[in-house]
Amino acid sequence: MTSTDKWSLSGAGPETYEQYQVPSTFEPLAHMLLERVGLSAGQRVLDVACGTGIVARLAAQQLGADGQVVGVDFNQAMLDVAQKIPASGGPPMDWRQGDAGALPCADGAFEVVLCQQGLQFFPDKLGALREARRVLAANGRAWFVVWRSAEHSPLNRAISESVHRHLGVEAEKISLAPFSLGDGDALRRLFADAGFRDVEIEAARIIRKLLPPEVSIPALLTSLPIGPQIAALDEAVRLAMVAEVSEALAGYRTEEGLSLPQGTHFVTGKK
Ligand SMILES: C[S@@+](CC[C@H](N)C(=O)[O-])C[C@H]1O[C@@H](n2cnc3c(N)ncnc32)[C@H](O)[C@@H]1O
Repeated sequence: MTSTDKWSLSGAGPETYEQYQVPSTFEPLAHMLLERVGLSAGQRVLDVACGTGIVARLAAQQLGADGQVVGVDFNQAMLDVAQKIPASGGPPMDWRQGDAGALPCADGAFEVVLCQQGLQFFPDKLGALREARRVLAANGRAWFVVWRSAEHSPLNRAISESVHRHLGVEAEKISLAPFSLGDGDALRRLFADAGFRDVEIEAARIIRKLLPPEVSIPALLTSLPIGPQIAALDEAVRLAMVAEVSEALAGYRTEEGLSLPQGTHFVTGKK
């Protein structure tokens, strides 16, 4: 494989997200989330900022045909990918385009509201949590998963440093957006301010298993929101970024590739 092939392999956008980010990160994280939630057959579940739908699909498998799963995302292109993936059991999937700040759902419609790695991107976080609470039934529970700060993620620290070096501060800021709500106390306060009771927060970590860096890092870089900017750089610069990130992660190499810890919070509250 030539270096150019490696770059064209990654492309950009929702398909790349589903192909690279979901199996290495968002699917294992969704399993950790659902272990904590403990869904019961027949429950009605909303997945806010569902993306390409991994949480909603895994939840559906636990609910049986009498359950209900709705997935809402702002980005229709993510939902288009979600729609193409065949369901494997459970109720039919109901994908809705909409904003977390004005959910296209009735008051009290769900026993459980889930949101995996979405809250940090919402412009009005408190408003979105109030919306999540509005659509919950009495005593229903919301569960949100939010990355801890980048200091708990060697991969993203290495990527953001390289982005800073080659694309500047603004691009670095965008690359760090997923880690911008890393403070557990702030997260707990947001939940309480939105009116949730019995708020609990847990700091945990996932281990991301990636292919060797020369394969996984180009794909990851171009699947970021700043992927198009990176893809537009000269090939020599892109390869320098891959080399820098790979070197920074040398301590995490395994026989298969890379094994990287990444810190996250699970936060839950009751209506
Ligand atoms: C990192 S992805 C997580 C997707 C999915 N929850 C998962 O675990 O794979 C973040 C998602 O948040 C969505 N998003 C961002 N702002 C939103 C908003 N205001 N309302 C609804 N969805 C939003 C994006 O479109 C994207 O699909």
